[in-house]
Amino acid sequence: MGKARGWQSAAAVLRRRYAQAANALNGTVPWRGVVDFVEQGLKSRGRTPLTLTYAQSLDGSIAAHTGRVLISGQASMTMTHQLRTMHDALLIGSGTLLADNPKLTARLVPGRSPLPVVLDSRLRTPPTCGLVAARESGDGDGDGRLPRLVIVTTRGGPADKWARAKALDRLGVHILEVPEELGRCSLEDTLLQLQAMGCNSVMVEGGMAVIASFLARPELVSNVVVTVSPKFLGGLGPCSELAARGSSDLLSMDQMSSCAVGSDIVIYGAAASSPVQPVNGHVNGVNGVNGVNGVNGMNRAQPVDGLPTVDLRSSCRMWIEAVESECDFKVYGTAKEGQEIVALIKGNVEGADDVPVRVHSECFTGDVLGSKRCDCGPQLRSFLDILQEEPRGVLLYIRGDEGRGIGLVDKIRAYELQEKGLDTVDANLSLGLAADLRTFDTSKEVLNQLGVRSVKLYTNNPEKVRALRPLAREVCPLKTVPNKHNVTYLRTKRDRLNHKTILSELVA
Ligand SMILES: NC(=O)c1ccc[n+]([C@@H]2O[C@H](COP(=O)([O-])OP(=O)(O)OC[C@H]3O[C@@H](n4cnc5c(N)ncnc54)[C@H](OP(=O)(O)O)[C@@H]3O)[C@@H](O)[C@H]2O)c1
Repeated sequence: MGKARGWQSAAAVLRRRYAQAANALNGTVPWRGVVDFVEQGLKSRGRTPLTLTYAQSLDGSIAAHTGRVLISGQASMTMTHQLRTMHDALLIGSGTLLADNPKLTARLVPGRSPLPVVLDSRLRTPPTCGLVAARESGDGDGDGRLPRLVIVTTRGGPADKWARAKALDRLGVHILEVPEELGRCSLEDTLLQLQAMGCNSVMVEGGMAVIASFLARPELVSNVVVTVSPKFLGGLGPCSELAARGSSDLLSMDQMSSCAVGSDIVIYGAAASSPVQPVNGHVNGVNGVNGVNGVNGMNRAQPVDGLPTVDLRSSCRMWIEAVESECDFKVYGTAKEGQEIVALIKGNVEGADDVPVRVHSECFTGDVLGSKRCDCGPQLRSFLDILQEEPRGVLLYIRGDEGRGIGLVDKIRAYELQEKGLDTVDANLSLGLAADLRTFDTSKEVLNQLGVRSVKLYTNNPEKVRALRPLAREVCPLKTVPNKHNVTYLRTKRDRLNHKTILSELVA
């Protein structure tokens, strides 16, 4: 008991120091860029956003031969704790649990600790380890929404494994069963099941084998944060593990940046890969169709040089009244089931810079019927008006992305829930769907195929800006005139989905 108080007061001291350090830096910390970058990555749609993070020495070791060793300095450890508070779950492998007996809290900073998750195919987790004990004693910052410790294990196995599972279960540990993949826990199923439990973001902290598994599955990773300490350790790292497996097609980083944090260098970026999207947006188990919406139902875009493929299926020229011009009309197929991108092209855009572009997701109710529940119709019409004025421009109309990608049936179900008081984000979540399932990488590829050199992008959506980088050199927000039917929806898009919506006067 005295020991626990001692630990808590040490944590309180560190928390105070963190606050003082943050104040001393005028409210900023040296790792502000990392936090902002990760925050953006966590908004990625259509999969469980995942941050892969670890600390290594200059020779790539994450562990010493001689046993437990602290690799990163105090400042970068504080950064790691801050990153922990930004995620719902914190995942490690059983090797780290057995070697380090970690606490996995965010005790160095103010904020909520994530749910600890351990990959443990053989259920080797000792009932006496710190994580189980913390679960029993009620340590940590759990908010009652989630269990306090999840152990993921493979289905099947000897009877004594299930006897251990029962014992852990009695201690209040939530055991999650997933299919086996290469003799270990399937990562995809683990993420899907965590998402179904309400974990909408995951941070992976190791150790070697788990890091190696994610490096070999870049499509599951959103952010990568690697802390490099100024030491040589001559120890072991994920590379030794990957070499042993003979893995290829490993993760590479996009938008790589770095910053100095104490005596360490933190390197961070996005994983360059194609996104994974559950078919129809349903999360395995939530809508009760295991196997169909889970791993077997995964609809993966095929990456080519880091981008999903799009192929031109038909084209013609036609007079478009809304633009008062003869335009090229091209229809592209994409690797996402049911998705087509229609490119309406005015003027010659090949080799052109600063081409006005709008990427517009299909909205039958707003675009065609003029529903007042959203701002899709007015935004589409504003851009068509701009096209009328400009000598050139491109409208990319994404068919199949109705309702931020969830489809018309679920969009209308979400409307029903909004009538009961949920906002547009919570309505999707309570249907077991992501807040936004769209990704816009395919739009970038269409623009590349059209030979557009740079674009002036008309959007309020930061995800579109992100996806179209570096093509999007200028971003023009589209002004929205709210009405009494859509003002709450527009505010939610601004406040919860980070849309740069400029709301003018409310009209009837
Ligand atoms: N520097 C850092 O940032 C950092 C961070 C964390 C840990 N570490 C160090 O890393 C070392 C531990 O590394 P480790 O490789 O032994 O342990 P680990 O990666 O934490 O755990 C590996 C174990 O997890 C289980 N597992 C289940 N599903 C898996 C999957 N899909 N992919 C990979 N593993 C899966 C496997 O055991 P079963 O087959 O029994 O399920 C596997 O042996 C320790 O020395 C620790 O201090 C360093």
